[in-house]
Amino acid sequence: MNLILLGAPGAGKGTQAEKICEKLSIPAISTGNMLREAMANGTEMGLQAKSFIDAGKLVPDEVVIGIIRERLTAEDCRNGFILDGFPRTIPQAEALDNMGVRIDKVIDIEVPDEKIAARLSGRRVCLKCGATYHTEYKKPKTEGVCDVCGDELVQRKDDMPETVLDRLKTYHEQTEPLKGYYEKKGILRVVEGQEDVADTTALTFKALED
Ligand code: AP5
Repeated sequence: MNLILLGAPGAGKGTQAEKICEKLSIPAISTGNMLREAMANGTEMGLQAKSFIDAGKLVPDEVVIGIIRERLTAEDCRNGFILDGFPRTIPQAEALDNMGVRIDKVIDIEVPDEKIAARLSGRRVCLKCGATYHTEYKKPKTEGVCDVCGDELVQRKDDMPETVLDRLKTYHEQTEPLKGYYEKKGILRVVEGQEDVADTTALTFKALED
């Protein structure tokens, strides 16, 4: 199954991508994680992306389209994949169509803007493996340490309140129109994000079967 996860920053795309990945044994591909990895490694692409990400803006389409074009040719995508955070603009969605990629379903996780800031201020991430935690809702076994790879957990710079507002603005202007794009194709499924991760996961799994 080839899936896209849509939703505002902090809506829970990464969290649900992990759950679907476990259930269907298909890779979760996060352009955000790939860009942060490039930033951590100090590559040219990472340096280019940093100024956009830190300002809560989108990285230019041609950069992320290039990343996805290459990633989807990998062996582990043969039985399907979950795109988390791509596409984020209409040109990115059109590029995916032009690559001949068939998408089976687009799961849109809806969470009101008012709840986003609280979620993101408590988020902690592992820059090494991309695992995500929350100081209240999803605590690691040992504070500040990743359960998966043992690396240090940090707060993302773009999770600071002022940048979150910019990211939400960018989302509403540039990414939200994708709902209409995929609704017209008849493959959009809307999930109302719940307070409890397990409740959202139950609704997400149900949406996969609709
Ligand atoms: P990216 O990393 O994709 O950021 P994002 O879309 O803003 O999404 P987030 O990772 O912030 O949130 P999420 O929805 O995955 O939520 P999560 O599950 O972590 O992108 C970062 C930047 O890279 C972008 O701003 C842009 O600059 C650039 N970029 C990336 N892709 C791009 C593209 N295609 N084009 C151009 N630029 C691109 O959950 C959030 C927190 O809430 C966690 O702590 C979690 O534990 C908690 N939580 C999750 N679900 C629940 C729940 N049900 N109840 C309570 N807490 C919950």
